[in-house]
This record gives sequence, structure tokens and C-alpha cells, in this order.
Amino acid sequence: MTFPQQSKKILVTGGSGYLGRFLARELSSDHDVAFTYATTRIHIPRCNPLWLDFLHPETVDSCLREFQPDIVVHAAALADGGQCEASPEKARAINVTGTEQLLLRLQNPDALFIYISTDLVFDGTNAPYDEQAIPNPLGIYGKTKRCAELLVQSEWQNHVILRCALMYGPKPSSGKGSFLQWMDKTFREQESISLFIDEFRTPVYVKDVVRAVSALIQTDGSHRLYHIGGPERISRVDFGKRLAAIRGYDPLKIKGTRIRDLDTGFLRPADVSLDSSRIQHAYPISLTLISDALHEIFVQ
Ligand SMILES: NC(=O)c1ccc[n+]([C@@H]2O[C@H](COP(=O)([O-])OP(=O)(O)OC[C@H]3O[C@@H](n4cnc5c(N)ncnc54)[C@H](OP(=O)(O)O)[C@@H]3O)[C@@H](O)[C@H]2O)c1
Repeated sequence: MTFPQQSKKILVTGGSGYLGRFLARELSSDHDVAFTYATTRIHIPRCNPLWLDFLHPETVDSCLREFQPDIVVHAAALADGGQCEASPEKARAINVTGTEQLLLRLQNPDALFIYISTDLVFDGTNAPYDEQAIPNPLGIYGKTKRCAELLVQSEWQNHVILRCALMYGPKPSSGKGSFLQWMDKTFREQESISLFIDEFRTPVYVKDVVRAVSALIQTDGSHRLYHIGGPERISRVDFGKRLAAIRGYDPLKIKGTRIRDLDTGFLRPADVSLDSSRIQHAYPISLTLISDALHEIFVQ
């Protein structure tokens, strides 16, 4: 396979995950891409699958030696809040020590390291959050992601941290989907669906995140930290209503719930809406409206 002259060798960690597979697929049209999987080996056209499991540290070394990337997009994580609370040591091993292992073993000192972080580094009391806001994660997941951010900032000069809001997008051909697929399935299969009326996010279309990462790769930006959320702040319940409208589901199935009424096993910040002005000023990225994204996903 031949690539354009400016083509880079890009390693996407967590390529078997929801975001990672969209990233690897898109980046591989212009670059030489390898992606990592831990438990689920998948096929992504034009991309080289590599086994990397942070719970087996020797795989980090073999993976980096074999591929020698110019750019690492680090998206692998234990990204389920409930699992992180249930197994905090595992969460730390994967999200913090795993990131540290990557940074220690990356051989090319000029490599660009893009770390995919989360809106859950904030406590939800002072939204919208821009890049100057002070993180104060509530749960294990957010805490481990914040620790990894600090490691990246202190250990790797040529880095960019991209904090993403809750992501949604099309159903992947195999494997786990986003919260949208959960909502859609629940509407189809259950009598009712409980959604929070008091939890607000700026859900971001996964393709916008991919476009942002592509932009970060191509240009030398002036900042090392960016936020990316969607253009609308919305509660879970209102997102559900939008989905019901486009899919023709009965909106009466929706049961509005308050965070305090449902024990999800971990603290949920009420509003971690992100202010995405900085990335929009720095790069020509337009953020997709929820109705346009849902139309593209389900109707087109
Ligand atoms: N989804 C969201 O709404 C959202 C929002 C903000 C930020 N993020 C961040 O975006 C990134 C991707 O999230 P996602 O939703 O795509 O996650 P995901 O679907 O749960 O995928 C997680 C990925 O991490 C890999 N992984 C898990 N355990 C590992 C281990 N021990 N060693 C190495 N890799 C391991 C998984 O590999 P296997 O599947 O092969 O085991 C998978 O490729 C994460 O860094 C997350 O923190 C996500």
C-alpha cells in the first residue's frame, strides 16, 4: 500500500473499542495505521492489528518495537464507570500505569502523543467547562483519567490532550456501541426506559471527534489541551425524546428519573458540559447538531 508523502505511522490504542475503530478506519486513508486490541481482535480495513494488554506489560514493548509509531493516539482505557468503581486497582493499572508504560517505552522522542481524556475529570458543579477550569473528578474512572493526563503533561513534551464529552454515533459492525445503541435497544425491547432529567452533557458525534483528531495530527496547534463536546447541552431525558421522535418510538415509554433516585453504583456529576470554543477557533471543525447526527445515523 502507498501513502501520500506526509503520511505518518500512527498507532491507535484501543482500536477495538467504540472510538478507536472509527479513528483507525478514518486515519488509515492517509496514514500507515496499526491499532491495538486487548481482548477483542477485530478487522479494520487497511490497518494492522496488534495485541496490547496493559495487564501484560510485555505486550507494550513488543507492540511499540514492532510498529515504531510517529504518532500515538491513546484511546485504550477501562472506560466503564461502574467497572472502574468495582475494580479500582484494575482501573488504575489500565488507565494510569498503562499510560505510563506507553510513555516509558515510546522510543521516538519526537513522537506526537495524543491522549483521549474525558469530561468526567470535572465534578459537574460549574459547567460549562473550558480548558482553564480546574478538574475535580468524582469517581474512580475520572480520577484515573486525570492522573493519566498529569503523567502525559509531565512526561511527554510533544503531547495533546483531547477531553471528549459523552460520545454517540453509528452502530459498529461488531462489538460495543455507544450509549445511543443502548437507548435504541431499550426503546425497542423494553416497556419503559429510565432516563435522568437532571444529568446534562454536551454529547458529541463520534465523527466530530475523529475529525478533531485528524486535525490535531495534521497541524501544529498552539495549545496542548482541548475540549470537544457537541454544540448542544442536553439532559439524558431530552436526548431520549429526540431519539424517540426520529425512530418513531412511543415517548410515553420514557420515565424521567433523578440521579439521586437511581443507585448506579458511583457518583454521577450533574453537568459536565464542555465549552469547545478553543478547538473550534484553532481548527476548522464544525460540531454536528444532534438532530443532524441522528438523521445521518438512522435515516440516510
Ligand atoms: N465513550 C465515551 O462516551 C467517551 C467519552 C469521553 C472520553 N472517552 C474516552 O475515549 C476512549 C475510548 O472510549 P470508548 O468508549 O471507545 O471505550 P471502549 O469502547 O470501552 O473501548 C476501550 C478500548 O480499550 C481497550 N482496553 C481495555 N482494557 C485494556 C487493557 N487491559 N489493555 C489495553 N487495552 C485495553 C479495549 O480493548 P478490547 O475491547 O480489545 O478488550 C478497547 O479497545 C477512552 O480513553 C475513554 O476514556 C470515551
